[in-house]
Amino acid sequence: MKIITVEDQLQGAQIAVAKIKKILSHKPGVFGLATGSSPLEIYRQLSQSKLDFSNSISINLDEYVGLAPNHPQSYHYFMKQNLFNNKQFLHSYIPDGLNPNAQEVENEYEQIIKDHPIDLQILGIGQNGHIGFNEPLTSFDSRTHQVALTKSTIDANARFFDNADEVPKYAYSMGIGTIMKAKEIVFVAYGEKKAKAVHQMIDGPVTIDVPASVLQTHPNVTVIIDHKAGALLK
Ligand code: F6R
Repeated sequence: MKIITVEDQLQGAQIAVAKIKKILSHKPGVFGLATGSSPLEIYRQLSQSKLDFSNSISINLDEYVGLAPNHPQSYHYFMKQNLFNNKQFLHSYIPDGLNPNAQEVENEYEQIIKDHPIDLQILGIGQNGHIGFNEPLTSFDSRTHQVALTKSTIDANARFFDNADEVPKYAYSMGIGTIMKAKEIVFVAYGEKKAKAVHQMIDGPVTIDVPASVLQTHPNVTVIIDHKAGALLK
């Protein structure tokens, strides 16, 4: 793992964008994308850049089950708002949250990734070390699968919904094995809330208790963190 400590998200995003630019200078790319706050500045800089994604493909990590693409809490909506409204890809794949047939979604998504091996995957980390929706104890071999959200995640999400019944109980997520197939991974984490997870991921043992620790075994990972997220590193 190559660890780069940056002053702020602006600088972190510049490094990530330069890596994306390098891939695009050779060929159209296949980019694995994450949602959440950590990659937002990357998407803002990409949106404002002159980079052309019209022959490239994007493949998102995850989506809630049961949310329509135009639901403001769906990851389809997030990606539209933060990137796709500004940058059109040849194809943008996000798991189909409206398909209740998990097996079908899993098979289709794995096939998409097989057909379009990911050149560069952007990853964030949860405070418990999760990557994608892969919570602690998820197998390192896991492929795209349906995840039952934990009660704490469901409760935390409730504030974004008018009605408790609307809060998603499940999500579809690339598995850890799927993520590990990406040729290159650009990991971003900022702020003190991520310090413990980043420390466990880098300094701790490779264990399913900390899903992100699997990245120690990937041949091409760049870890971009600010001083706060790196505060507990040895
Ligand atoms: C999002 C995803 C999640 C987030 C993680 C960090 O697609 O897969 O694993 O990357 O929860 O979220 P933020 O960046 O909001 O702290």
